[in-house]
Amino acid sequence: MPSDSPVNTGDADSIAKLSSMKNAHKPDVPDASPEAAIDTAVAPAPDVSAQGEPMAIISDIHGNLEGLTVVMEEIRQRGIKKICCLGDVIGYGPNPLECMDIVIESCEFTIMGNHDFAIFFEPYNFNSAAENAAFWTRSQFETDPNRERRNRRWRYLGSMQTRLNNGRFLAVHGSPRRPINEYIFPDDIYSAQQKLSLIFDRIPHLCFVGHTHVPGVFVQHPDFYPPDDLGGKYVISDEKAIINVGSVGQPRDHDPRSSFVILHHDHVEFVRIPYDVATTVEKVRAIDALDNFLGQRLIEGT
Ligand SMILES: [Fe+2]
Repeated sequence: MPSDSPVNTGDADSIAKLSSMKNAHKPDVPDASPEAAIDTAVAPAPDVSAQGEPMAIISDIHGNLEGLTVVMEEIRQRGIKKICCLGDVIGYGPNPLECMDIVIESCEFTIMGNHDFAIFFEPYNFNSAAENAAFWTRSQFETDPNRERRNRRWRYLGSMQTRLNNGRFLAVHGSPRRPINEYIFPDDIYSAQQKLSLIFDRIPHLCFVGHTHVPGVFVQHPDFYPPDDLGGKYVISDEKAIINVGSVGQPRDHDPRSSFVILHHDHVEFVRIPYDVATTVEKVRAIDALDNFLGQRLIEGT
């Protein structure tokens, strides 16, 4: 690690700034566990809920620059100014630095995902391919020769919140009760109804999540509606809803196109955009530390 990396070296200025952040832990702190991070996550409430102004909500970019580029272009063409990100900006994919820089420049806030956590703190419950990818990603953050860019990325990563409630909706990466790591699967409506009931108890009205990379809407009955069943649009009512926005960079619903949503004043629009999958797959193949499977799965969207 270069001597001025703010994570675990003597860069006093960077460490002081990181330490002052509500959500930042140094990696060698004994209680730097996901639970510790969750417990300390008291998010401020930025003004991101202006009624009538559409907001794009993206998630799970996973270092896929080709996917992120087409999504950002779509958002720009639609004239949408507000973008928020539900985490996993990095991990798995071949362009973590470029994706992180775009998110830093473009998003009003970014929630911490389990892969962001893995790079800043430590991998937690990762298989070997994910762990290898996490360590490779961390090495990319550490070895950028530009100190300013390097420190800016570490600061952003360290300041990601684990949950945010802006008065209109709750935003987390995984679930409201375990924001970083808990998955809410479509099958849970059959096999884990008690789990869903406890999760819905923690939601005031709308909750946006990512993490499973499978877009759709959970309602309290319980039930789950993929976007196609809704005609690509969920109309907001008084009922509670958990809305999974899908994944920009690694969709897993057998549709390889990038997924995100747009929150309008009265409905949520699901959007899919094709991108140059072959280029991303080739980049993954060219990096030894990234398992070829991580590229292959992009072709089928699994
Ligand atoms: Fe993810």
